[in-house]
Amino acid sequence: MTNTTENTAENTQLMTVVVTGATGRTGSRVARAAEAAGLTVRAASRATGFDWWDSSTWADTLRGADAAYLAHPSDVGAPGAAEVVGALAREAVGLGVRRLVLLSARGEDQALPTEEALRASGTDWTVVRAAWFAQNFSEGPLVAELRERGELVFPADEVREPFLDVRDIADVVVSVLTSGDRYAGRILNLSGGRLLTFGEAVAEIAGVTGRPLSYRAVSTRDYGEALAGFGVPPEEVAGMTEIFGTLLDGRNAHLSDGVREVLGRAPRDFGDFVREEAAAGTWKA
Ligand SMILES: NC(=O)c1ccc[n+]([C@@H]2O[C@H](COP(=O)([O-])OP(=O)(O)OC[C@H]3O[C@@H](n4cnc5c(N)ncnc54)[C@H](OP(=O)(O)O)[C@@H]3O)[C@@H](O)[C@H]2O)c1
Repeated sequence: MTNTTENTAENTQLMTVVVTGATGRTGSRVARAAEAAGLTVRAASRATGFDWWDSSTWADTLRGADAAYLAHPSDVGAPGAAEVVGALAREAVGLGVRRLVLLSARGEDQALPTEEALRASGTDWTVVRAAWFAQNFSEGPLVAELRERGELVFPADEVREPFLDVRDIADVVVSVLTSGDRYAGRILNLSGGRLLTFGEAVAEIAGVTGRPLSYRAVSTRDYGEALAGFGVPPEEVAGMTEIFGTLLDGRNAHLSDGVREVLGRAPRDFGDFVREEAAAGTWKA
């Protein structure tokens, strides 16, 4: 711990970190936590002129930075993610951005080529493999359904998942960035501290909000058909259903100790997340 503290003081001095996805679930928290730790944050999203799909926008964002947090905007295992992350990482290395931290997904085979592309870029890399976010229940595409129809429909059957609070991801990323080389070349697996089925998670939200919220499991195929019905392009549907099919087949129904390893404390509890979001009115009809 002493070593980490010394490194922190030394490395935050004048460190500039590019935070991609800075308006998103993890990036917004990474940006806040990095600023709180004394780093200079360069927020990156389309609003700042940075576009993952337009490589001509990358250099202006990366030039002069020391480090970058990379959150691929669609899934990290989506088709094409490895190519774009690899190209961005090589450009970063060429511009002297020496530390890259990639947000990846725990147990997602489809994300492995993206991780490999990062490693092959020649950077000082760290991969943060996250469990399913607790904030999937409070921010993002699943929330409106839960809030407005009182039902979450998802192809997760009765599988258990250790939902992870994205604030823990942010704390880990900042600790990685401010700990010198300590986590360079490391894959960190992060999860929350409790295994819950999606039904149990929704029941916790129902219990705290007093609303009769429920979870309905559907098959991956039915879920894909529903997505297609909402106009999601067929290639995207195929990619998403393949990823959900592997992520939610039981392989991730275990805890990982990355939060404790890096932060020296337990992960935030799903119940605390639910109480905070309920108090903020997240699931009010
Ligand atoms: N959800 C989970 O449970 C989970 C678990 C593990 C890993 N992950 C990984 O998390 C990553 C997503 O991170 P997140 O959830 O923090 O993000 P998010 O909340 O989905 O937000 C996406 C971010 O990307 C930005 N963005 C979208 N398109 C862009 C583009 N073309 N160029 C530049 N920026 C763009 C958005 O900003 P603007 O729209 O303002 O540009 C926004 O800041 C994915 O790679 C996913 O695989 C998710």
